[in-house]
Amino acid sequence: MGSVTTPRLITADDLSLRPPLDDDTQLVAELMGVPITAERPAQIVRMWREHWDEHGYGTWIITDAAGRRLGFVGLRTHPDFIRVTIRVTEGEGGDDLATRALRLVVAHALEWLPDLPLRIRIAPDDVATRLVAQAAGMAHAPDLDHTVDGDEWQVLELPYVRIADRVPARAREAMLAMWVEVNDSGGAVGFAPGAGQDDVAEVLDGYIARLAEGRTVCVALNSPLGELLGFGFVARSTGATVAHTANLERIMTDPARRGTNHGALLVAGLHRAAREMGVELVTLDYRGGTGLGEFYTRYGYTEVGRIPGGVRVAPGDDRDGVIMARSL
Ligand SMILES: CC(C)(COP(=O)(O)OP(=O)(O)OC[C@H]1O[C@@H](n2cnc3c(N)ncnc32)[C@H](O)[C@@H]1OP(=O)(O)O)[C@@H](O)C(=O)NCCC(=O)NCCS
Repeated sequence: MGSVTTPRLITADDLSLRPPLDDDTQLVAELMGVPITAERPAQIVRMWREHWDEHGYGTWIITDAAGRRLGFVGLRTHPDFIRVTIRVTEGEGGDDLATRALRLVVAHALEWLPDLPLRIRIAPDDVATRLVAQAAGMAHAPDLDHTVDGDEWQVLELPYVRIADRVPARAREAMLAMWVEVNDSGGAVGFAPGAGQDDVAEVLDGYIARLAEGRTVCVALNSPLGELLGFGFVARSTGATVAHTANLERIMTDPARRGTNHGALLVAGLHRAAREMGVELVTLDYRGGTGLGEFYTRYGYTEVGRIPGGVRVAPGDDRDGVIMARSL
């Protein structure tokens, strides 16, 4: 098994995130609206760098394609959770930038960082930050709301990933219901719309039976309140020559909550699970004509094969079966 180190950079098409440098003091001073000569900005950057040295993660500086500094997403360790903060420079599109940056950081955290709850606290009237956090998949956890020195805080928490080698009856029920709904809403997970619950149950139970053999694991994405938000399976290949590879299967999220980063979080959880199994290369396949190639390309996948007409969705509706792969 190759040795894997947690990446320090997070990159996407149009922005990247990197650990702080001493000269980021300028950015902090600007965000705080104080002169660069003030003590506090330099102190903050020093604290950020110490956190990175100690924990191997911390505050990321957001930069655009031209290298301009646009703000930061901070992660700070606490005894039983990781606190998220976010600030971006004033300007048009600031909320959109904050959303994209936060989406990337929380998915990175789910895939790579210690398995602790990720929380952000927000003043009740800070609607902009709340929307950014929700768009990244975070949800209000009212039990965690609190007051500090007379200031009220609401706490939002990121969904968590459960990597399981067994599926309790209640979880099976939720998975079955979601799978049927996903089919009916046109999702491409092995069935056509209207597939019967019994047919879906048979395939689901096949997976559940295979979990006991030890080569397949179930990865579920759950809300802070424990509701099922999505799931998928990591199926490790059989045979000595391919034991370092696995196929990701039946990846699906709750159709009622699409577009809130759950797909990205689920893929991150699947990668984490595969890596924990010692897998170094993952493949998956999708039904052509669904646009899913673009979705997976974002997460580092490349098309490696295509079977023209390999998927019959309905008589007269044949699609390509497309295979994608990436190393972990
Ligand atoms: C694919 C799937 C897991 C993504 O989940 P999600 O909860 O929508 O994921 P996210 O919110 O993280 O990502 C949404 C982004 O992916 C894009 N995306 C999602 N599904 C897409 C699709 N079928 N085609 C093209 N883009 C898609 C969205 O446009 C969105 O992009 P944006 O952020 O720029 O607006 C979900 O759509 C799903 O369950 N689909 C049905 C089942 C399925 O087809 N699974 C794939 C089996 S290989």
